[in-house]
Amino acid sequence: MTPRDGKAVRRPPRLRRVVGGVLAAMLGWLGSPIPPSAAEPPMPDVPPAAARPAEPAVRVFGSLPDGREARLFTLDAGGFRATITDFGAILTSFLVPGRNAGDPATDVVLGFDNLAGYVGKHPYFGATVGRCGNRIAGGAFELDGKTYRLATNNGPNHLHGGLVGFDKKLWSARPHVGARGPAVEFSLVSPDGDEGYPGQLTARTTYTLTAEGELIVEMEATTDAPTIVNLVHHSYWNLAGQASGSIAGHELAVFADRYLPVDAGSIPTGVFAPVAGTPFDFRPELAPRRRVGSAIEALPPDAAPGTPRGVDHDYVVRDWQPDGTLRIAAILKDPASGRTLEVRSDQPGVQVYMGNFLDGTLHGKAGAVYVPNGGLCLETQKHPDSIHHPEWPSVRLAPGQNYRHVMVHRFTR
Ligand code: BGC
Repeated sequence: MTPRDGKAVRRPPRLRRVVGGVLAAMLGWLGSPIPPSAAEPPMPDVPPAAARPAEPAVRVFGSLPDGREARLFTLDAGGFRATITDFGAILTSFLVPGRNAGDPATDVVLGFDNLAGYVGKHPYFGATVGRCGNRIAGGAFELDGKTYRLATNNGPNHLHGGLVGFDKKLWSARPHVGARGPAVEFSLVSPDGDEGYPGQLTARTTYTLTAEGELIVEMEATTDAPTIVNLVHHSYWNLAGQASGSIAGHELAVFADRYLPVDAGSIPTGVFAPVAGTPFDFRPELAPRRRVGSAIEALPPDAAPGTPRGVDHDYVVRDWQPDGTLRIAAILKDPASGRTLEVRSDQPGVQVYMGNFLDGTLHGKAGAVYVPNGGLCLETQKHPDSIHHPEWPSVRLAPGQNYRHVMVHRFTR
């Protein structure tokens, strides 16, 4: 067994004979001849060169306004390709190979061809969002008897980490070949007081691509003083291809019986309401599986023309337990191509966001126009505004504790 990939790697018998023979000859030269079989060396820690995935490719993405250089990392495995930048630890593209040899690959995430797009204002395409994803009501919270005021960037509320959240920071990067495949580990030190949050937080996001078509996103953090954290991966998926317009024709299953109704500022009211009998119902048992468009057409009810439409709500993941077990949160499918994405995570909630606020003004990769509902986010996380609901899974992180959030995106075609 190799500790690296957890699989037994058999050395070809011929090679074994040669290695054994060479070692035996050497030992013989030292004066203690032993039979080749007993001379077999311990298995090496790394798989043979042919079985090892390629190291991530690295190239320059561009220069930030302050002169620092951002880079792009490309992970290749099993015909899939993920490209990620150290600016915002952002997934910039994800290529799903065609079904038959020679079929073109399809890029299924929204984003930009150049760094300037990500430096500018955009709705968190592909980003690692932090310290706290989603909204914190009134941009303030109390921790251990002290009140903290955060940057408010969404009306009176704090959204996705504030004005300069983790999506706008340059992370340190360590490309490598991990236990499951090529990987890049990004790390970031967020100083005490960053966007109003207490404590110096050290965050890490690791992307790994496996040969089975899984994109694993692991988010971790530690702190030197009590703080709050809720890191979120914010890719906009369009399984028909990032430039193909509305995702209304996709089919969706959300493994949740309850969701969190919100007020006019998108702050949860505090109730976990049943989805049954509402447009929020995407339970997997429904047959046929519901079209995303059915919710876009129904929500919000009686909306004036031009109102952003669709679900933008957190769901309570079925059977969740705080034990780190990965549970299925959602399945998204483009019936036309057959491409399917299954999201599993260890988090209690999943924010389903149907790209309601995309309005056709952003132009992305290869000139794509991002129209309303042009991509869909499946953001596993602790419930939004949890800090104001002590009865919900806690976002508090204290020194000595490790925050961890694992997501597995599995693609089939
Ligand atoms: C939120 C939306 C928000 C979007 C872009 C999503 O996570 O739920 O309300 O508009 O991010 O900021």
